[in-house]
Amino acid sequence: MAFDLQRARQDTPGCEHVLHFNNAGAALMPAPVLDATIAHLQLEAQIGGYEAAEQSEAVIEQVYDAAARLINCSRDEIAIIENATRAWDMAFYSIPFKPGDRILTAVAEYASNYIAFLQIAQKTGAIVEAIPNDAHGQISLEALRNAIDDRVKLIAITHVPTNGGLVNPAAEVGKIARENGILYLLDACQSVGQMPIDVDQIGCDMLSATGRKYLRGPRGTGFLYVRRGVLERLEPPFLDLHAAQWVARDKYEMSPNARRFENWESNYAGKIGLGVAIDYALKWGIDTLWRRIKTLAYTLRTQLSPLPGIIVRDRGVTQCGIVTFTIEDKDPHAIQQALGKQHINVSVTERGSTLLDMDARGLDSIVRASVHYYNSEDEIERFCRAVESLL
Ligand SMILES: Cc1ncc(COP(=O)(O)O)c(C=O)c1O
Repeated sequence: MAFDLQRARQDTPGCEHVLHFNNAGAALMPAPVLDATIAHLQLEAQIGGYEAAEQSEAVIEQVYDAAARLINCSRDEIAIIENATRAWDMAFYSIPFKPGDRILTAVAEYASNYIAFLQIAQKTGAIVEAIPNDAHGQISLEALRNAIDDRVKLIAITHVPTNGGLVNPAAEVGKIARENGILYLLDACQSVGQMPIDVDQIGCDMLSATGRKYLRGPRGTGFLYVRRGVLERLEPPFLDLHAAQWVARDKYEMSPNARRFENWESNYAGKIGLGVAIDYALKWGIDTLWRRIKTLAYTLRTQLSPLPGIIVRDRGVTQCGIVTFTIEDKDPHAIQQALGKQHINVSVTERGSTLLDMDARGLDSIVRASVHYYNSEDEIERFCRAVESLL
């Protein structure tokens, strides 16, 4: 069945104003997400924040069901957290590392995660090691297999790195982690919402996601998945009266489910918006969205590549909706600004966001044009003509 682009665009008010290829930054929200978020803010203004939360309790609770449906887990394994970084942190900093424990990651790991590895390495004597890439630029499964020994405490990789179309082989990594009984934390910040994610099939124990990127939710929303058996063994780095109960003078009891990773105060309007965004994506069908996104990104890469001076920088066997490129002798920021003047949104990814990978490839910054299913073939054509005019 043909993809209903007209409906996707009608549901997306931003399409009238911009050519938005910054979906890996923050995608344009669809109208139902915007309406639900604003409606809750209005309710808060009308009847009071606590009262609005009480009145909307059932809707707020449904967010856990929606996230669980999206990644195939139970609602008890979901914590709603304000962004992917904090979600990831809550899982990572819960792991008790000791001197000599090894943390294995990939070359294109995200800066915030790597900074946390370094901090924990300095504090505890754990060791961080980036497994080399294979010839396609994704984590080498062979090198990972060879690196395993009984000191490996954690495998933590990014599914879709911030700086390109690469999709790391998350399920193959999960197989290695499972075979060896090693904890596996997946940063799925940029893959959730753009491709099917099934935590059982991937075999991860923990997974972090954000709302504003491919899920098209409001900013300041995200979630964490922690597998039930693992959850019971992890004590979060921070606890409050929501994550735990103060049951006696010298005693607290942690929440029995993933809510032990949450904290009490949160943005309820955003949370509701996130739930609506997930349901909205599920209604389209994630398989359908993934097919459309891959096709659009492939078209964009194929149309950009022949242009003189342009180098498309994406690597990996499977490539997603993020298209990165450089233009000879042109500063990526100047390209972003020039396109911005024509109401075309892209972003620039800097070396410091994925330092190991950018250094290995001799790159300082690259233009990131990330497409979503509501983008059109006409927009790709317009985009390529706009880029061509800069050459
Ligand atoms: C791979 C990856 N992980 C994590 C993050 C951080 O997500 P958030 O801003 O929701 O904390 C990003 C954001 O760009 C990212 O690209």
